[in-house]
Amino acid sequence: MMPSMREVIVAANWKMHTSPGDASELARTISARTRVPSVTRVICPPFVALASVRDALAQDDPDVGIGAQNVHHELQGAYTGEISAPMLAGLATWVIVGHSERRRDAGDTDEIIGLKLGRAVAAGLRPILCVGEQLGDREVGRQVDVVRRQLTGALAGHAPSALRHGGLVIAYEPVWAIGTGRNASGQDAAAMSSAIHSIVEDAWGDTRDDTPVLYGGSVTSANIAEFLAESEVDGALVGGASLKPDEMAGIVARAGLTAAARHTSE
Ligand code: PGA
Repeated sequence: MMPSMREVIVAANWKMHTSPGDASELARTISARTRVPSVTRVICPPFVALASVRDALAQDDPDVGIGAQNVHHELQGAYTGEISAPMLAGLATWVIVGHSERRRDAGDTDEIIGLKLGRAVAAGLRPILCVGEQLGDREVGRQVDVVRRQLTGALAGHAPSALRHGGLVIAYEPVWAIGTGRNASGQDAAAMSSAIHSIVEDAWGDTRDDTPVLYGGSVTSANIAEFLAESEVDGALVGGASLKPDEMAGIVARAGLTAAARHTSE
């Protein structure tokens, strides 16, 4: 395969951790330890900490993207406790859509996720669309079928140009690897990444899809190299390890090597 020119992204998914007070401190510490050229860094704190993280980084490190972990599929209405895409204006420039924990706990279907994707892009939020199979699917070799169904469901009805323009990123997160300490292999991640590009090309009728594809699932500073050694993998969506500055420093430093190598080969 030709050397990839795709951007290298490390996104931190803080899930339901941190408060507005300690999130700003953590964001500042991580930002100071991850200033690596050419790596796109994103921090996704809980909704209530978006403003404090934004304020903490606005002066010091405005290059860090700030993302929400979810968004509602309607613009407004009687949806108690929900947050719509326009409400995130000024708070976030990225959003995670379709995380497996929301598929599991909040009943997010591929159709709903597709609607969220549209709302995100329309509001100028750069979406990280998460896909990934359950362990049982992988054990019977159905992982690509599952990811194909998730992707085609979410992408249906969206103009490729709108999603491209909106900066779509796809994160492959095998459910069995999330929060379990059991990561996929670099080869598995690369194989799925190739499959994802083919699926997107089929869905969009394109010849060469250049959507960045991240790997997520128990990524740490100790295993990130295995993923980034694969030219098909464009970075990581990091959960547990993203709350630890040492871990983030190691992960982003390794991502910087990949980013530098891609620039050199340009
Ligand atoms: P993990 O989570 O790194 O803790 O496995 C990844 C994710 O859910 O995005």
